[in-house]
Amino acid sequence: MQAHDARVELVHRFFSGTGTTYDAVVHYATFGIDRRWKRRIIELLPPNPRRILDLACGTGSSTPAIAEQFPHCRVIGAELREEYLEIARSKIHKLGWPNVNFVLSRAEDYRSVEPFDCVVSSYLAKYADLERLIPVTKAMLRKGGLLLMHDFTYPPRPCLIPIWRLYF
Ligand SMILES: C[S@@+](CC[C@H](N)C(=O)[O-])C[C@H]1O[C@@H](n2cnc3c(N)ncnc32)[C@H](O)[C@@H]1O
Repeated sequence: MQAHDARVELVHRFFSGTGTTYDAVVHYATFGIDRRWKRRIIELLPPNPRRILDLACGTGSSTPAIAEQFPHCRVIGAELREEYLEIARSKIHKLGWPNVNFVLSRAEDYRSVEPFDCVVSSYLAKYADLERLIPVTKAMLRKGGLLLMHDFTYPPRPCLIPIWRLYF
């Protein structure tokens, strides 16, 4: 682990104190589309998974839905920030899903000896050290397992770039 990784410091600074408003901000800032994307992610998950990892699970905007969809699957949410993880834990506590565990960990440092059928992640790529993240994540997937990373991408059509810039 790099003790002074600028990415980690940026994440702590950027998200500090935003836990209670995060879900609403994402919902309105994406005009409600985030929920559709998250539903689509669940549709893409492999059938009958035994273990799924939700990397950078944040406040648990996907984790409970994954656990509900696959009640016999162990779902692990790993997240860098305790503030967000507390909110995710309390959502699961209220829902009572017994198949979820949360881990406070930087995604690049998380390891599991038991393989995952699928690793999902929303909006992590731009904050992570992908050169470290991708090999360690791949090593945790069972053979044929799926890595599903979801994020905003730069628009392929030049005419959309000014709108993209304005939005961000
Ligand atoms: C935009 S939020 C997305 C949260 C959640 N995945 C969602 O879809 O709502 C980005 C999250 O990534 C977490 N994060 C950023 N870098 C991380 C890293 N290297 N390891 C683990 N979590 C990280 C942040 O703390 C934050 O909770």
